[in-house]
Amino acid sequence: PAQTMEELVSLCKRRGFIFQGSEIYGGLQGFYDYGPLGVELKNNLKASWWRTNVYERDDMEGLDASIIMHRLVLRHSGHEATFSDPMVDNRASKKRYRLDHLLKDQQENVVSAVAQAMGFGNAENFAALVAALVKNPEQAEQALNAAAVRDPFSGEAGGWTAPRPFNMMFKTTIGPVADEDSYGYLRPETAQGIFTNFKNVVDSTSRRLPFGIAQIGKAFRNEITPRNFIFRVRELEQMEIEFFCTPGTDEDWHEHWLQARLAWWEAQGVPRSKIQILDVPREDLAHYSKRTYDLMYDYPTLGYEEIEGIANRTDFDLGSHTRAQSDYNLSATVLPNEDSVAKLVIPHPETQKPVVPFVIEPSAGVDRAMLAVLSEAYTKETLENGNERIVLKLRPHLAPIKVAVIPLARNRPEIVEKAKAVKAQLQALGLGRILFEDSGNIGKAYRRHDEVGTPYCVTIDFDTIGKGEDASLTDTVTVRDRDSMEQQRVKIGELSAFVAARLKG
Ligand code: GAP
Repeated sequence: PAQTMEELVSLCKRRGFIFQGSEIYGGLQGFYDYGPLGVELKNNLKASWWRTNVYERDDMEGLDASIIMHRLVLRHSGHEATFSDPMVDNRASKKRYRLDHLLKDQQENVVSAVAQAMGFGNAENFAALVAALVKNPEQAEQALNAAAVRDPFSGEAGGWTAPRPFNMMFKTTIGPVADEDSYGYLRPETAQGIFTNFKNVVDSTSRRLPFGIAQIGKAFRNEITPRNFIFRVRELEQMEIEFFCTPGTDEDWHEHWLQARLAWWEAQGVPRSKIQILDVPREDLAHYSKRTYDLMYDYPTLGYEEIEGIANRTDFDLGSHTRAQSDYNLSATVLPNEDSVAKLVIPHPETQKPVVPFVIEPSAGVDRAMLAVLSEAYTKETLENGNERIVLKLRPHLAPIKVAVIPLARNRPEIVEKAKAVKAQLQALGLGRILFEDSGNIGKAYRRHDEVGTPYCVTIDFDTIGKGEDASLTDTVTVRDRDSMEQQRVKIGELSAFVAARLKG
């Protein structure tokens, strides 16, 4: 695995996986562009998630809802009121910081000084300390300044404003009239599109409990301090499942999904040993959650950070968005809803009476998944001759390029044509991208394809076209294995079967 974030950032830029967004105009913080190889890896990762969670199950439907949503969706979801992070301003530099990041970045003694000034014995419960700071803004301001918390940017101490909540949703105007009500939100999670389509999906598919709806798509959060490459970004992608079940069966389904998700990560090359399961303490739970397991992956440089959250959201969401709330004996506390026109209910499997189901939600970040998969695959090897090689040992189903087909001599039309024919033959297998690779010499091509994780390089040479020394090698190619670097001759007639057997699944 990678040892530092820097080596990943460098590989991603050098080989065309990930670039800074709007780079030629100085870049835009918190936005990234996926390059020629990044888009392939990302598509493969999402396809694997979809295969496992939609195609290989019999209790799941898919969805692709719109990104911009009616403001009432985000009002009744609770996001207008609560989707915020605590923010402070440095009066001098006018820079804004997320309060918890600001504190965490200081020395421990600064954190405990703030804790003491707030009347906390120690700062062991960091989340509780941050909550107390937000609750008591004036006292917090004094504590921050007394503890000489430093501006991470200028290094200067003091001069903080009182902490205040900063709502992270992006707003945008809709249509040509810019009046007070003509705005919508870019969704901060894909989940809301699933809840608002619950009735549509049930009515059009005749699903009964238990069943789930899966969605992959972009979400937007105006993070106060985006950082750590693609770990915390403002435009992110999520792979979310809302699994609807009968109240009372929710805890069993929660355990089911925890195991199912760990198995999927393992199949992507992210081993169980690199993930810690955090049973989120009650006081840190999101407003909608009864219990949440956070999967914490051991990221290079950052250490254990959340890669996926698996939450028991109870009947909070459908209960918040349904009409006639008082008819359904909801278990969650919800705000009154006079706006919704739909009853988000389904027959209870035993009583057949309409019930608002409970929801288990496995929610994974695509960008954080990319980072984990790249990090696990990254391998530095010292070869027998003392040279170092970097190889991306991606699982074949994730590899951006499945096979590189290399003509050994670029100026020999027969070799080039043969290579193009072999490329087309392999491309027709539908395994993903097969690359006709005629840039640079063979040694360079191997190095490049090791670094981007191409499982096989196929070389077309003079023997292939019957112009070599050994006539028995006519119509054979050299196949080089990425991981073992071993090469073997394979007949062109058997190449498709050879490649398919090793790359499928
Ligand atoms: N619908 C539930 C939900 O959105 P979340 O814990 O806020 O829950 C789920 O987000 C996942 O989305 C996280 O585990 C993480 O992988 C990803 N994620 C959230 N915010 C992100 C950000 N700013 N940048 C990258 N990924 C993010």
